[in-house]
Amino acid sequence: MGSVQHHCCPQPKMGDASAHRPWPRPPRPALLLVPLLVVAGVMPSDGGASCPVLCTCHNQAVDCSGQRLFSVPPELPVDTRNLSLAHNRIAAVPPGYLTCYRELRVLSLRNNSLVELPAGLFLHAKRLAHLDLSYNNLSHVPAGMFQAAHGLLRIDLSHNPGLRRVHPRAFQGLAQLRDLDLSFGGLAFLSLEALEGLPGLVTLQIGGNPWVCGCTMEPLLKWLRNRIQRCTADSQLAECRGPPEVEGAPLFSLTEESFKACHLTLTLDDYLFIAFVGFVVSIASVATNFLLGITANCCHRWSKASEEEEI
Ligand SMILES: *[C@@H]1O[C@H](CO)[C@@H](O)[C@H](O)[C@H]1NC(C)=O
Ligand SMILES: *[C@@H]1O[C@H](CO)[C@@H](O)[C@H](O)[C@H]1NC(C)=O
Ligand SMILES: *[C@@H]1O[C@H](CO)[C@@H](O)[C@H](O)[C@H]1NC(C)=O
Repeated sequence: MGSVQHHCCPQPKMGDASAHRPWPRPPRPALLLVPLLVVAGVMPSDGGASCPVLCTCHNQAVDCSGQRLFSVPPELPVDTRNLSLAHNRIAAVPPGYLTCYRELRVLSLRNNSLVELPAGLFLHAKRLAHLDLSYNNLSHVPAGMFQAAHGLLRIDLSHNPGLRRVHPRAFQGLAQLRDLDLSFGGLAFLSLEALEGLPGLVTLQIGGNPWVCGCTMEPLLKWLRNRIQRCTADSQLAECRGPPEVEGAPLFSLTEESFKACHLTLTLDDYLFIAFVGFVVSIASVATNFLLGITANCCHRWSKASEEEEI
């Protein structure tokens, strides 16, 4: 942790004028560029480092939304609390991007072109509380993606139409998480394990997904039904896409009865009956073979005898 910090995080020092720039004081000829950079939007923020081009910085909030950015700004003020990169065309976030911004509380990457996020992105985001990843193209949420971001209160993963897989341990360790939005994705299945470890969950949104309400979903639905008083969910929107028997049924209308076919367990009597039937069938087949054999033998002898007679 410390080793990462000293080579990538310019910590602002009291009375150190150079801390107001992410680069060393430019040599003389470069000074001519400074008015140009100021026009282009490079302004020192309140926080100590300069504000990235095309962004506005105010009270530790950096707003780079709607600027047609294809990549994240390389450097932010180190004391950034709110960062909005929403409504851009960002396709990737470099690994370790957030390492330096220990004050980060709010991060919005809403409405970009993200397909995945690098492992360990949130490893140092200990204060991160609100994370918006909606309207992207994320395909899965891997195990431990938010690991170490223990302060997360809200995660919005809605409107990721390609989101098909949420790992059972995707939200591991998020004891404070209150709001989770998984609506309008491509989820057919979600394991109970993924939600079970979230004691603080108050709002869960799962509507608009192509849920397949087969036997594998029973534990999750049972759990959700028992929690529905504490955990408000968008029950109207959550529907089963399959199997055919329950297509279009609201997820929360399914009862124990709906899953009766999942519990076809056999009793000892059933096993005895099956064993008995099997025994009878095998005896019968042995007897039939025996009779067939005798008959064939008789016929053979009889035809031989009649042939001899004819000669
Ligand atoms: C930072 O984000 C929070 C939560 O969205 C908001 O309440 C707060 O006003 C924001 N701060 C600034 C300076 O924009
Ligand atoms: C996404 O951002 C684009 C601009 O890049 C904007 O035109 C569009 O309305 C935004 N969509 C949503 C759902 O916010
Ligand atoms: C989303 O990602 C898939 C590949 O995972 C790609 O084929 C598709 O074009 C992407 N969609 C958008 C809207 O970027």
